Amino acid sequence: MTFVIMSRSFTNYLEESQIDMLPSLAEPIAYTLASGGKRIRPRLVLAAYGAYASDTEVVFALARAIEYFHNFSLIHDDIMDDAPLRRGRPSAYGKYGADRAILSGDAMLVYCYRILEEYQDRACYGQLISGFSQMAIGVCEGQQMDMEFEEREIIQRHEYITMISKKTADLLSAALVLGARLASAPEDQLLHWHRMGQLLGVAFQMEDDWLDYYSDHPALGKQKAGDVIQKKKSILYITACEKLDSAERSRFVELYHADLDTKLRLSQVEEIFENLSIREAVRADIEGYKAEITETMKVLSQFANIVALQELADYLAGRKY
Ligand code: IPE
Ligand code: IPE
Ligand code: MG
Ligand code: MG
Ligand code: MG
Repeated sequence: MTFVIMSRSFTNYLEESQIDMLPSLAEPIAYTLASGGKRIRPRLVLAAYGAYASDTEVVFALARAIEYFHNFSLIHDDIMDDAPLRRGRPSAYGKYGADRAILSGDAMLVYCYRILEEYQDRACYGQLISGFSQMAIGVCEGQQMDMEFEEREIIQRHEYITMISKKTADLLSAALVLGARLASAPEDQLLHWHRMGQLLGVAFQMEDDWLDYYSDHPALGKQKAGDVIQKKKSILYITACEKLDSAERSRFVELYHADLDTKLRLSQVEEIFENLSIREAVRADIEGYKAEITETMKVLSQFANIVALQELADYLAGRKY
């Protein structure tokens, strides 16, 4: 069974799923889910499960919980990042206001555990729940670090990598590890799925930072240069700081954090990024993850069917939004 067929029937399942709660809370949730997105994380769940088992529908509830968690994190992320646009439409925060976005996000997070009750009679239920909770705490830690970095001027690359491995890669890892676990993958193989999730996740967030600034693809659907506007310590900023000497770095850091007119600040940052060839430098960093991904793919291929995972990794490597 190919990945495309699996994913299409999962899409139907997702669209047909009901959200059983107060309509005024369910509405921002349904609005966010209906805006689509690439559905990378449930695809990862399906790919890992399908690497060991073929009764695909069993894993749909887990894939749904993972995608709901992702959408919950976006609803809250847009409040924290003051983001007006998400997937080409007003964010839930922009449309319903912060109070309703906070509460519907909370409800959506808790609803994930409701969905996972589907597996309560399985031996692995306790491990699914604890893996899911551990992931959720990791994402919160990463998001908190992301916010703290906004207030700090100099961030080392290793600090950035820790932050994105929590806020982004932990969810991609959990998608793979929990998918494999549900398919009864041997315990000693899970660490390789974890490693794959971390590599894909870190590369994914660096790409997200790159696209935030350089993509003009209409499907990106987010405010252009939102990270610079929010003074985020993206990989673009980290790389620029690394390339500048100490005096130039102080001037750049001051400019990046200055209370200037946004347009003026953006155009000055643009000039510095251009002079430092940040576009190319960050692209090369992202490409650098390919070799490690290929290595880990080889390890996984010794004991699991990784066709769907490979397809997904290829798709991620060429994504434009
Ligand atoms: C956006 O994730 C949030 C990040 C972790 C960077 P996606 O780019 O997967 O968002 P959608 O679901 O496709 O909109
Ligand atoms: C979001 O990172 C990560 C999580 C939601 C946990 P970003 O803030 O970069 O995501 P976008 O760019 O808004 O999608
Ligand atoms: Mg954001
Ligand atoms: Mg954010
Ligand atoms: Mg981003």
